[in-house]
Amino acid sequence: MEQRSQWGTRAGFIMAAVGSAVGLGNIWRFPYVAYENGGGAFFIPYLFALLTAGIPILIMEFTIGHKYRGSAPLSFFRMKGKGAEWIGWWGIFVSFVISTYYAVIIAWAMKYTIYSFNLKWGDDTGGFLFGDVLNLADNPGEVGGLVPGVALPLLLVWAIAFVILLAGVKRGIELANRIFIPTLIVVFLLVVIRAVTLDGAALGLDALFKPDLSKLADSTVWVAAYGHIFFSLSIAFAIMITYSSYLPKKSDITNNAFITGFANSGFELLAGIGVFAALGFMASQSGVPVSEVASAGVGLAFVVFPKIINEMPGMSGLFGALFFLSLVLAGITSLISICETYIAGFSEKFNISRKKAVVFGVGSAAIISMLFATRGGLYFLDAADYFINQFGVAAIGLIEVIMIAWVFRKLGVFETHANEISDIRVGMLWKICLSVITPLVLGYMMIDLFRKNILKLHGTDNGNYEGYPDAFIFQSGWLVALFAIVMAIIFTMMKWNKKTT
Ligand code: PHE
Ligand code: NA
Repeated sequence: MEQRSQWGTRAGFIMAAVGSAVGLGNIWRFPYVAYENGGGAFFIPYLFALLTAGIPILIMEFTIGHKYRGSAPLSFFRMKGKGAEWIGWWGIFVSFVISTYYAVIIAWAMKYTIYSFNLKWGDDTGGFLFGDVLNLADNPGEVGGLVPGVALPLLLVWAIAFVILLAGVKRGIELANRIFIPTLIVVFLLVVIRAVTLDGAALGLDALFKPDLSKLADSTVWVAAYGHIFFSLSIAFAIMITYSSYLPKKSDITNNAFITGFANSGFELLAGIGVFAALGFMASQSGVPVSEVASAGVGLAFVVFPKIINEMPGMSGLFGALFFLSLVLAGITSLISICETYIAGFSEKFNISRKKAVVFGVGSAAIISMLFATRGGLYFLDAADYFINQFGVAAIGLIEVIMIAWVFRKLGVFETHANEISDIRVGMLWKICLSVITPLVLGYMMIDLFRKNILKLHGTDNGNYEGYPDAFIFQSGWLVALFAIVMAIIFTMMKWNKKTT
């Protein structure tokens, strides 16, 4: 066995945890989720979800990693044998799937950083994305050929991740985050400052922050807040357990969790301000209400933002380049955190070197990711993202808290462990959050999800997510979510190398 890696400094660990948490979700997901779910009023369920689930689970996962000093499967194995180990592998394979398409979005953002300089997308930004860049197939489920213009930058993304991960925890991951995260903050601040000084910015901020208190009575708003917090904090998919397993023995846990949680939320708030200021500008330029230009995800970043950039007075290319560079930086630091989950898991389970685990893990993710660089890639990406997030992350979160709180009954032990080494002490309230509040909300959320997807209640043509055909939803949605569970069972059944445990 190689000696177990460690972070060099406390700031290095925090930077890496924040680097994982702050990702594409903060920039293109949060602003829209907040806007759609009550605007200013959304901050009530959002804060509630952060304080009752986000930070408590972060504290729990930091404690698990620190106490058992292992990748997610090894930590769970040490907690309660193979009956727990599978939860760690499940998180790892959900992470594996996410890494295969997350890298693709970073590749697009890289291309758009360059395109910004001469506003290469022209006036028809949608046509440019779906036609010129993605050469999108006509129907979901069609693979079509590889699109070289996407595949090449995608290889570059993997090469960057490969180099960072190969260099190790301290000299690779920690160093990269120490460079990328401060750079991201500076670059993104410039974007936000420019955005709020545009004409019409106030219009956008009004739309975002205007509180619609009637929404608070709607359970979907609370579910949206919880769902977003899980994704945004990178909890329940093995990442934070892996990262905290590299903490030195003498480390603070609870304080670090609060810092990570608040830093991530701070960045989201900043992104909300920047994005909606830009949308306000766009709306006032074209004389339409903000509701007509507001959107999320791929559409927001790669269709609407290029349009906004087209309209901007002065140095618009630079603004565009900085915006897309933010996506690249935020994305890469998250990507390396997901890859590290399986690198750590593989190297411990089979007692192979870090180098071999990186080559094998990142190599196979890179090969599979090429599916998303084909002409049908965007459809696959969309369906996989929806299913793996809804039925992966949220379901793991639910099972993780139920098993730990009610089956293994470990909260008391973790409480003692965390309190022994931390400034801020946790107690009864923390345990109630994890054993009662979070399972109730997540349980309701899962039932609702199954109901919606099985009874086809999406309000689209055929009621499936995005109105996709049944066969496509089955292969690219359900099967992908199932893949993570099946792989988790297979890997749990394999024998541990004796030297590891
Ligand atoms: N926390 C990330 C975000 O907000 C999500 C994420 C992290 C996704 C790591 C994948 C991997 O974007
Ligand atoms: Na986030």
